[in-house]
Amino acid sequence: MYRFRRLRQTERLRDLVAETRLDVRDFIYPLFVIDGVNITEPVDSMPGVYRYSIDRLDSIIDEVYESGISGILIFGIPKHKDAKGSDAYNPDGIVQRAIRYIKDRHPGLIVIADICLCEYTDHGHCGLISGRTILNDETLPLLAQMAVTTVQAGADMVAPSDMMDGDVESIRDVLDANGYSNVPIMGYSAKYASGYYSPFRNAAGSAPGFGDRRSYQMDPRNGVEGIREIQNDIEMGADIVMVKPALAYLDVVKEASETFDYPIAVYNVSGEYSMVKAAAEKGWIDEKRIVMENLYAMRRAGASIIITYHALDAAKWMKEIH
Ligand code: PBG
Ligand code: ZN
Repeated sequence: MYRFRRLRQTERLRDLVAETRLDVRDFIYPLFVIDGVNITEPVDSMPGVYRYSIDRLDSIIDEVYESGISGILIFGIPKHKDAKGSDAYNPDGIVQRAIRYIKDRHPGLIVIADICLCEYTDHGHCGLISGRTILNDETLPLLAQMAVTTVQAGADMVAPSDMMDGDVESIRDVLDANGYSNVPIMGYSAKYASGYYSPFRNAAGSAPGFGDRRSYQMDPRNGVEGIREIQNDIEMGADIVMVKPALAYLDVVKEASETFDYPIAVYNVSGEYSMVKAAAEKGWIDEKRIVMENLYAMRRAGASIIITYHALDAAKWMKEIH
């Protein structure tokens, strides 16, 4: 009989032989910035997550920076929405101003701009529309313009989450043409049409006004297609590729990490976060245990970058010495 239990006897021994490790530098923290002043507004659907106006950002960005978390993924919530999502690519829009402010205060923090129109359009879709159709090619220049304006504001990286075909290619071309060939792109490559995004849409006010996103985001039944999406983003110039959501798609993460020699990111999305928070509030689960178990699962599946609303809590827990 082989005695597996030999190496399971103490916490230190288990730590010594653990196959998977997490580092606070693996984490990216998503941040919502809202137009206006004096706002620190809790997001009802996401306990512990807030929308901040620029003048109220200091304490949260200081905390993120000091925790050692590598960076933030920034989402803007504008005052005015219109059919074309104009504020998304306005050089003086909310997300561009927020990026300028954050990079000024913490030049070393990696600021990643989420590139998409849905927070900025009055219809809530990720691209331009004609009737009930979401237009692909007509949307691409606007996304590229959003990328250029956020990079001009100081963003270190752009992450297109729109799921239009050709988004990475057109953003790469336009960034290069504007002298930004050194700015990396993180593609939301295998982004599924998921029920797990509902709490985020409440946070960002970005729920589609009609229909849903199934004509552009991926069908949850498709794994092989996720690999093709990632392959395509790599060919079109993505530097980092992403699978989103995380937990229900770890098979795709695993396959991607074994297929591609590129950094793989996962987005541990709002619904995954809020389910844990809700069950923990009821006392049905141990929050710390569940969160760490989930984060280790993402890492074990092959993710090297983890975008998560749990990042600040996990960073604290990971410092504890047993
Ligand atoms: C916008 C965007 C979404 C998320 C990230 N960027 C929502 C969506 O596609 O509807 C989801 C993030 C989350 O649920 O935490 N394109
Ligand atoms: Zn969108």
